[in-house]
Amino acid sequence: MQTLSVDLADRSYPIHIGAGLLDRAELLDTHLTYKRAALISNDTVFPLYGERALASLKRCGVTAVPIVIPDGEKYKSWETLDHIFDALLSHAFDRKSTLIALGGGVIGDLAGFAAATYQRGVPFIQIPTTLLAQVDSSVGGKTAINHARGKNMIGAFYQPKVVLADTNTLKTLPDREFRAGLAEVIKYGLIRDREFFVWLESNIDKIMVRDEEAMGQVILRSCENKASVVAADEREQGERALLNLGHTFGHAIETALGYGAWVHGEAVAAGMVMAAQFSQQRGHYASADLKRTVALIERAGLPLRPPGIAAERMLELMQVDKKNAGGNINLILLRAIGNAYLEPGVSQSDLLAFLRQFS
Ligand code: NAD
Ligand code: GLY
Repeated sequence: MQTLSVDLADRSYPIHIGAGLLDRAELLDTHLTYKRAALISNDTVFPLYGERALASLKRCGVTAVPIVIPDGEKYKSWETLDHIFDALLSHAFDRKSTLIALGGGVIGDLAGFAAATYQRGVPFIQIPTTLLAQVDSSVGGKTAINHARGKNMIGAFYQPKVVLADTNTLKTLPDREFRAGLAEVIKYGLIRDREFFVWLESNIDKIMVRDEEAMGQVILRSCENKASVVAADEREQGERALLNLGHTFGHAIETALGYGAWVHGEAVAAGMVMAAQFSQQRGHYASADLKRTVALIERAGLPLRPPGIAAERMLELMQVDKKNAGGNINLILLRAIGNAYLEPGVSQSDLLAFLRQFS
């Protein structure tokens, strides 16, 4: 097992990464001094791992109440949140009770937002079971639900007490979801860790067959990058915005298609290629770096271009983005592999001309 820390003064917490951690009750015990908890999961993950999670909690003296919601991005919604609140109230959960997320990023974001808001905030634990959640969404405290007009538009920063990433859970992850997680992994290389990008280029074949040792490295290095950015800029006043490389394009794709048609990682992958191409066309990103970016994303089996969406619609959706300010579109662009920056006030006519290349 490897343990990292997200250093946030009195809200610091550990990320435990390793095979079989779901059964290691002692890793949760210290974070569950008050013995009431709800285990929030979905109807795909709960049948696979719910009983083991409940058994571990029982060994900590906690009889957790399972709250199982339907699987899918479209359930990251007000209606599901209300259903969770209803279940918590019907079991008379008080403000010391812990909410535990068992699942991918959808469950983590939703349960995290429920924890942030139920009775003004209750303790929260993340047990991520997708690659994307283990390398990104379970760490850093961003919680949210979607709105019909934009992804993750309603939410809160709310840190968990502990993150428990059992790498064995990835064995049941469908290939499409595994590839989606790789988009966020490649993102760390592109925005701030050139050495990791080069390592990914050399090891992508092993990664694609989920080689255990390579995957251990992938998750550890990704979490190190994420923890370091979050510790430096928890509330996204600066550096954390770089973690959104490809996301302004990607979120627009997800919203335009309807949540769940393309999974988040696929939209981010196409969005990162678009950000790289836009950077290159503006003369900031070398053609050789663009070529390597596209090649790695392609070898990870991810989409390289957006689906056909009218440029005007893409632009309209890109105007609804949390990085924008004062009506200006702010984009994360690339100077080199391992070096991203935020470009404020990108010209909308330049962007429209760029988007027309894809519609
Ligand atoms: P997801 O939660 O929808 O999970 C993907 C699919 O895999 C689902 O069908 C799920 O039921 C299934 N699944 C989960 N674990 C499994 C397992 N071990 N075996 C078999 N099936 C399993 O999707 P995701 O990619 O994990 O997360 C995407 C979400 O995360 C998006 O809503 C995105 O906005 C959000 N996100 C949040 C952050 C953040 O910082 N909070 C960062 C990145 C993404
Ligand atoms: N995934 C973006 C962030 O955590 O800031």
